[in-house]
Amino acid sequence: IMILIQLSEEQESLVETSRKFAKSEIIPVASKYDESSEFPKDVIKKAHQLGLMNLVQEPEYGGAGLGVFDASLIIEEISAGCAGMSTSMVANDLALLPIRIGATPEQKKKFIQPIAEKGLLASFCLSEPGAGSDAGGLSTTIKKEGNKYILNGSKQWITNGGYASQYTVFATIDKGLKHKGICCIVVDANSPGITKGKHENKLGQRCSNTVPLSFVNVEVPEENLIGKEGEGFKIAMQTLDLSRPLTAIIAVGIARAAFEYARDYSKERKQFGKTIAEFQAIQFMLADMITGIEASRLLTYKSAVMLDMGKHSALESSMAKRFAADTAMQVTTDAVQIYGGYGYTKEYPVEKLMRDAKLLQIYEGTSQVQRLVIAREILSGK
Ligand code: CAA
Repeated sequence: IMILIQLSEEQESLVETSRKFAKSEIIPVASKYDESSEFPKDVIKKAHQLGLMNLVQEPEYGGAGLGVFDASLIIEEISAGCAGMSTSMVANDLALLPIRIGATPEQKKKFIQPIAEKGLLASFCLSEPGAGSDAGGLSTTIKKEGNKYILNGSKQWITNGGYASQYTVFATIDKGLKHKGICCIVVDANSPGITKGKHENKLGQRCSNTVPLSFVNVEVPEENLIGKEGEGFKIAMQTLDLSRPLTAIIAVGIARAAFEYARDYSKERKQFGKTIAEFQAIQFMLADMITGIEASRLLTYKSAVMLDMGKHSALESSMAKRFAADTAMQVTTDAVQIYGGYGYTKEYPVEKLMRDAKLLQIYEGTSQVQRLVIAREILSGK
């Protein structure tokens, strides 16, 4: 795959618009939302108005109609401003992707269009208290009764869950069937029987809304089933292939911000009579930081371009997500180190970036799950 990195005028303007948005609407309020852990409703609303949400959804259903590559240009800029906010934004695409992948045109019109056009929120509901990395081992049940399905169970770590008007839920018709029993169904968030739990008090990305959900005898019309019964797991995996580059680029944005702060600070801070940037110890840290960021971005671009070409990209998506997440953790930790004691305080922006980066190694498949996917892909002989 050849990647041409000369951006077109349209792509440059996507970067410009999102960079300006991050500068004027996100960076000035990021630490306030981090501190309060409050959901940035107004920022999300403005992002929607500017066309920075539902990026990879089809335009005929109200989406921005971008490819994964173009979307990644936007998400890097937003994430360099605040990863909690970009996670909230990208989570909408994540929730709508199973519909884009597996739904009929009528279902897309019904379940994507109103969300995208009205600027509503949606959530992807796969993880459970007892099923994180082992997504195929989930236990929320789905049972057919007449022309309805009945859902029972609990979901965990649901991004946007407290504010979403629609949930994309994965549930099993029979746990004994393992992944072959899993179904994907769209659920109205106001359905009787759904309880939204308390927002999690997280280490980082504190303003992204994260709640547990409980489903007790929740009735869902049969026409809300996406694909056939038992096709849910494949739909979830295909969704993650598409969304992992969008997550990898969040890591790139965080790392880039940390690098830029650390580079600028190292040119100002004086010790032993000169700026710390003049010491090789600091220079080598900065050199490794920028190299890791560039490599993460290129891996992400490769997986994005492959997806935009319609190619199978589980290997490339997982390599990008794994490498970018681990790089962001290293780069942000080094940025705190360059700032020294100041970096450890909330007076400076780098400790937030370090806390925000940690989640990248956990959500959308841990760094260990990515290695598992990578190993399976290279050993499967495909
Ligand atoms: N595309 C299509 N099909 C796929 C696939 C892919 N990428 N990956 C697997 N499959 C298919 C397999 O071919 C297999 O099908 P058959 O039975 O027909 O052969 C089936 O799915 C089962 O595959 P595996 O045997 O590989 O399944 P597994 O149980 O071993 O699980 C796993 C694999 C990679 C560990 C998977 O469970 C996984 O990705 N776990 C992590 C879950 C995750 O990422 N959760 C994130 C939640 S979302 C989130 O965090 C978002 C947020 O809110 C911010």
